Amino acid sequence: MPYYRSVGEVPPKRHTQFRQSDGSLYAEELMGQEGFSSDSSLLYHRYLPTAIVAAEEYDPAPVVRTPNRPLKPRHFATHKLDSSGADAVLGRQHLLANDDVRMSYVVADRPSPLYRNAIGDECLYVEAGAATVETTFGTLEAREGDYVIIPTSVIHRIVPTGGPVRLLTIEATGHIGPPKRYLSVRGQFLEHSPYCERDIRGPSSPSTVDGEDVEVYVQHRRGWTRYVYAHHPFDVVGWDGCLYPWAFSVHDFEPITGRVHQPPPVHQTFQGPNFVICSFVPRKVDYHPLSIPVPYNHHNVDSDEVLFYTGGNYEARRGSGIEQGSISLHPGGFTHGPQPGAAERAIGVDYFDELAVMLDTFRPLDLCEAAQSCEDTGYAWTWARRTLPPSSGVDTATG
Ligand SMILES: [Fe+2]
Repeated sequence: MPYYRSVGEVPPKRHTQFRQSDGSLYAEELMGQEGFSSDSSLLYHRYLPTAIVAAEEYDPAPVVRTPNRPLKPRHFATHKLDSSGADAVLGRQHLLANDDVRMSYVVADRPSPLYRNAIGDECLYVEAGAATVETTFGTLEAREGDYVIIPTSVIHRIVPTGGPVRLLTIEATGHIGPPKRYLSVRGQFLEHSPYCERDIRGPSSPSTVDGEDVEVYVQHRRGWTRYVYAHHPFDVVGWDGCLYPWAFSVHDFEPITGRVHQPPPVHQTFQGPNFVICSFVPRKVDYHPLSIPVPYNHHNVDSDEVLFYTGGNYEARRGSGIEQGSISLHPGGFTHGPQPGAAERAIGVDYFDELAVMLDTFRPLDLCEAAQSCEDTGYAWTWARRTLPPSSGVDTATG
């Protein structure tokens, strides 16, 4: 996040003596991306951030990936997943994945363990409920509609507040940030961006927690490890820089509209390596006198398109079985578009009350077991409005 912040106590000059009340030095840590050549922050710890006393392999249940074959549009009903008794890290139900990005869903009702994702940044989207995201940089309060971006290797834990929290999680292999075209060469949001610095929340104060022999789960490209740190990693008295966890509410995304239908890039919110994340928010729709407000049939030939339906009515999908919590996957190689009759129904409509999060990947997504367990297998046939014979191998034919 290329936006400088300074929180808590930091010395006036970097890499100089900064002492605790007992005269000992604080332990300075530079956390930076791309080999000292990109965003970084300097953190000042009470204890050495290097002090571990144990490390052991940890093997979560393996994530089985199945190619999307036969190549089909898919509909997954996440609210039909068995989501009881989970935390927001180890309890994730993996849905879709490729080597660039992994999407999961979880209904968390308990605090997660301390966790570090050393593979890449994470984007959490809060579908419902609330959580406190505690990090080495301080805490963020996350509520319905929030995106929370947690940079690579930031130690954190997710604590539901006031009941279970429903999270869609997107794990990148690399870094997630605002689209470059929204930013000046020095990183300020430009006037045409649908959001800007005032909409972004970062930790406002450091949090220090006493404790010894503290477990941290580390996800790495070569597997998981459980460290035991000599002291609690939340021991930072101050930090400054341009790398930190941050939150942004989808309700602060200002939609860009036009006389005729605007393409999905106007909804883009973040970019990551080989994927983008977009937000479809309630908005006035196309106002040309002859406009058709729903999308035209389209085939984005280089992408798999995933939509998570998180609020309102998704007009173009009426008749498809899509509902709150649904995820559709429209892969490259398949032309998709509104359900039959949606274009006609939309004429004259001037406002869409819809809320959806879209993940577009530039490489194909595999299906994970949780997705297959909540799939509406008749979705692929909903545009044809036909009742298919049992020999077709599908369960239903919604029309
Ligand atoms: Fe699409």
